[in-house]
Amino acid sequence: MKAISVLTCLISAASSVAAQSIREINGNRFLSPYAGQNVTNVTGVVTAKGPSGIWLRSLETTRDERLSGGIYVYGSALAKNASIATGDVLVLDGAVSEYRSSVNYLPLTEITLPKVRAILERNLSFAPIVLGKQRGPPTKLFSSLDSGDVFGVPNNQSLISVVNPILQPKKYGLDFWESLLGEYVTIQNPRAVGRPNQYGDTWVVGAWATTGDNKRTGLTVSQKDGNPEAIPITSPLDGTSNRKDGKLGDRLEDITGVVTQGFGFYQIQPLTKLTVISSREPVVSGATTLISDGTCSGITVGGYNIENFALKDTAHVTAVASHIVDYLKTPDLLAVQEIQDNNGETNDGTVDSGLTLSALTNAIATLSNGSVVYNFTYINPVDGQNGGAPGGNIRNAYLYRPDVLQLQGGSNAVIGDSVTANEVLRGPTLKYNPGLIDPGNGAWNASRKPLVAAWELVGTGSKKGKGKPLFTVNVHFTSKGGSTSLHGDARPPVNGGVEQRTAQGQVAGAFIAQILARDPNAHILTIGDFNEYAFTAPVQTFAKVSGLKDLDEVTEIPTTERYSYIYDMNTQELDHTFVSKKLGKGAKFEHLHVNTWLAYDDITSDHDPSVAKFNIC
Ligand SMILES: *[C@@H]1O[C@H](CO)[C@@H](O)[C@H](O)[C@H]1NC(C)=O
Ligand SMILES: *[C@@H]1O[C@H](CO)[C@@H](O)[C@H](O)[C@H]1NC(C)=O
Ligand SMILES: *[C@@H]1O[C@H](CO)[C@@H](O)[C@H](O)[C@H]1NC(C)=O
Ligand SMILES: *[C@@H]1O[C@H](CO)[C@@H](O)[C@H](O)[C@H]1NC(C)=O
Ligand SMILES: *[C@@H]1O[C@H](CO)[C@@H](O)[C@H](O)[C@H]1NC(C)=O
Ligand SMILES: *[C@@H]1O[C@H](CO)[C@@H](O)[C@H](O)[C@H]1NC(C)=O
Ligand SMILES: *[C@@H]1O[C@H](CO)[C@@H](O)[C@H](O)[C@H]1NC(C)=O
Ligand SMILES: *[C@@H]1O[C@H](CO)[C@@H](O)[C@H](O)[C@H]1NC(C)=O
Repeated sequence: MKAISVLTCLISAASSVAAQSIREINGNRFLSPYAGQNVTNVTGVVTAKGPSGIWLRSLETTRDERLSGGIYVYGSALAKNASIATGDVLVLDGAVSEYRSSVNYLPLTEITLPKVRAILERNLSFAPIVLGKQRGPPTKLFSSLDSGDVFGVPNNQSLISVVNPILQPKKYGLDFWESLLGEYVTIQNPRAVGRPNQYGDTWVVGAWATTGDNKRTGLTVSQKDGNPEAIPITSPLDGTSNRKDGKLGDRLEDITGVVTQGFGFYQIQPLTKLTVISSREPVVSGATTLISDGTCSGITVGGYNIENFALKDTAHVTAVASHIVDYLKTPDLLAVQEIQDNNGETNDGTVDSGLTLSALTNAIATLSNGSVVYNFTYINPVDGQNGGAPGGNIRNAYLYRPDVLQLQGGSNAVIGDSVTANEVLRGPTLKYNPGLIDPGNGAWNASRKPLVAAWELVGTGSKKGKGKPLFTVNVHFTSKGGSTSLHGDARPPVNGGVEQRTAQGQVAGAFIAQILARDPNAHILTIGDFNEYAFTAPVQTFAKVSGLKDLDEVTEIPTTERYSYIYDMNTQELDHTFVSKKLGKGAKFEHLHVNTWLAYDDITSDHDPSVAKFNIC
């Protein structure tokens, strides 16, 4: 108490000679009004020390929540100076800088070239701001510059670093975290809403309001809600490392640290490493309950992006096969993406993938004790034209159970080639079965061309009535590479490839519309990795043009349970299944969380698979 009254006295003396306060330096916008200027007699208590600098907190309070009371002072001599400790009240001079390591990031306001004038006091007690109690983040919007939709198009209409808007911390997530930049904070009762990345950085939320909560206690992204209430916890200040084996939904001990900005995100650097109290059970979701009955009234179709699937990675081959046997329960038809050619990422002109797919079907046969021997079909790409890992020539393929299904036309089916566009003929039937949708269209540049096929049941008995053919379109739209982070400078953030994906949705949708034009009651299924959320322009365009319905909607899967992927703070659905009205009747659908729930080192693919069951009689 004595210390504080002495300090108050000193501060008022200092402010009478126009020293800059930490709150004045931060100002009420993103960029400091003092950026590029020298400041003198900046006074604050040391709240934390890191490897390259220290954090100061203003001794002045304010009711203006926009003015952060904390600041980072960059300088390794200061950081390493053993005679400066937390609780010291420093007076220092320095230069205000807005630092970022990439133009795509938001900058960190910091004081550089610090020169300590005086230590006014030692061992002043200070307390962290308790997030969720004193201050809590908004739960939906990120920035006033996003026009209400962080996932909206067009992207990059403005830059925060240029507009430098006045902070609205109650409304916008980035403004909230900016208004606490440099501050010393505590998160009570935190839980992981992602899994640690390769550095152990872990996205969390604490005891505050959240939206999009799923049953696993992650946060599912939804339209206009990108979950700004989550924050990554990065490198501990004490030089230890966070564990990398954390999982979605882990309960953690309370976290105390400093709010900072780096590598494209607001983040909290904790004083010490994260401690997991408990993890969610069961470790993976159960097997599908959707089992084929081998007749037209109950056939099953799965979809799975099996991530750079290569013949020589035998552990991966076995792991994928065991998912297909144990969790997907060997559906009649399986649409897979990211099948590499027979020598994987060796870039020597090899394009065929027959051996790669045989390795998978052989492993499935082994694991199913010979009870399931899949056949497969695919079309080789032109070398180097499908994007993905160089030399890998990833493509989409189908595995099918020849005891249940065959390509329509059986041995008379004409398989298409890498450059010829498939056509919808009278019937409707396909000219090539399977064939590619408009492979020469620029929409598919450096991307996978959709593989369209028509299937019929084998056998003719009443139990195995052939029903009507099932048309399937296996897609893998172009990647989100080139995106900027949701916390980045460009607003709305750059969603890499969004225009190309929209064009892909248009081209694939138009082909499907031709089938429906010939038969409005056709059974049509589109399944695969759209690399995009259901509510965004590419998928909406696909739905509108194709006339198909999202099977999640048709089967009324709760919106928060629609996910197949985790990225940063968001559980999300990049993989979708769309059906024609007729095929949707009585359909069932399940997402199998065999990867999203696991620690990074334990995953088989970055995507979860799904299984659906249909009546095609
Ligand atoms: C900074 O504080 C010193 C005393 O430590 C004082 O002499 C000087 O005038 C102050 N400068 C400003 C700009 O306030
Ligand atoms: C800040 O101070 C340094 C000396 O410490 C001086 O070289 C520099 O020109 C000053 N910068 C400004 C913007 O006044
Ligand atoms: C550490 O800080 C104290 C107080 O400002 C100063 O007197 C001393 O010179 C510093 N030591 C080093 C090695 O910079
Ligand atoms: C610092 O203050 C705390 C009480 O706030 C006291 O327990 C501790 O002994 C003090 N440390 C030093 C080095 O004075
Ligand atoms: C966003 O637009 C600015 C021009 O306003 C441009 O300089 C910048 O490169 C763009 N960012 C990205 C990631 O495309
Ligand atoms: C295959 O055989 C093993 C050993 O008998 C058994 O544990 C396993 O459940 C069988 N798997 C299938 C899919 O039948
Ligand atoms: C497997 O597919 C190939 C063509 O891709 C075909 O020639 C063969 O007859 C099929 N085998 C069975 C058992 O259906
Ligand atoms: C696709 O690539 C070709 C040549 O490689 C180019 O002319 C065309 O503009 C590209 N189309 C799109 C949509 O990027």
